[in-house]
Amino acid sequence: MHNPQLHSDGRLKHLLSIEGLPKRILNDILDTAESFVGVAEREVKKVPLLRGKTVCNIFFENSTRTRTTFEIAAKRLSADVLNLNVSTSSQSKGETILDTVNNLIAMHADMFVVRHNQSGAAHLIAQHVPDHISVINAGDGRHAHPTQGLLDVFTIRKYKPDMHNLRIAIVGDVLHSRVARSEIHALTTLGVPEVRVIAPKTLLPTNVEKLGVQVFHDMRAGLKDVDVVMMLRLQSERMTGAMLPSPQEYFKTYGLTHEKLQLAKPDAIVMHPGPMNRGVEIDSSVADGLQSVILPQVTYGIAVRMAVMAILAGGGQA
Ligand code: CP
Repeated sequence: MHNPQLHSDGRLKHLLSIEGLPKRILNDILDTAESFVGVAEREVKKVPLLRGKTVCNIFFENSTRTRTTFEIAAKRLSADVLNLNVSTSSQSKGETILDTVNNLIAMHADMFVVRHNQSGAAHLIAQHVPDHISVINAGDGRHAHPTQGLLDVFTIRKYKPDMHNLRIAIVGDVLHSRVARSEIHALTTLGVPEVRVIAPKTLLPTNVEKLGVQVFHDMRAGLKDVDVVMMLRLQSERMTGAMLPSPQEYFKTYGLTHEKLQLAKPDAIVMHPGPMNRGVEIDSSVADGLQSVILPQVTYGIAVRMAVMAILAGGGQA
């Protein structure tokens, strides 16, 4: 079946989800990102790959990291960037998403970066736009956050280059996490042999093992000898009803403390996509500790987003 994210010749047309993308596309994005890491260290932090193109960031849901790193990435590629502030846009007067998009198309936008609290919003826009426009999903509901999945994999590859010899644990609210879904698809496609999810039953999707992961409910057993610990936030904004006794109780059982981290390999890295809730899923001493690569994730996110936009615009490295 044809993948709507790909051109008929197999090139990337939109980035909507990692699910269904071939390994060669993921590796192409990661290798291209590698070439962009050094741009940040140049005196002039710019390459001309998107000169003359207009990138529209349309965020219908709050964001710190994703919106700003997409903006920096587009500017480093020399694009013109338009950030639509949805809370002050005509959406508040009842305009539909597609009417908003139509108006931006009329202004000759070339690329849309879209975040929405409804799963499928970026797909809807991708189906609607003319052929020359690309759409990037910057997070839709609990469905997918492909650039976060890619930047997480890129960060892992930087610290643990042998992806075929890794044990990775994803801990916390997998049920509501678009990040976890994208990470799992990326890691399994790239051949990581052991991906674990650690969570209470109430925070795991039904049949999660069908995604190719091992399920643990006991954090101590799940962390044993892992190379990478990825912590997830409790996404209370997507929860209906009480799914946990209390944040304090959750921290006691599933919060990452220095003591629990010692069960992982001594050189294990700690990751978190942000925003972090200190004292709920992660202790401050771990978040700020020597094994944490949480801020490098943000830095590498710029190179990965540059790579995605450059590839969608027709390719090219730094
Ligand atoms: N990781 C992530 O998506 O963070 P923001 O919500 O701040 O963009």
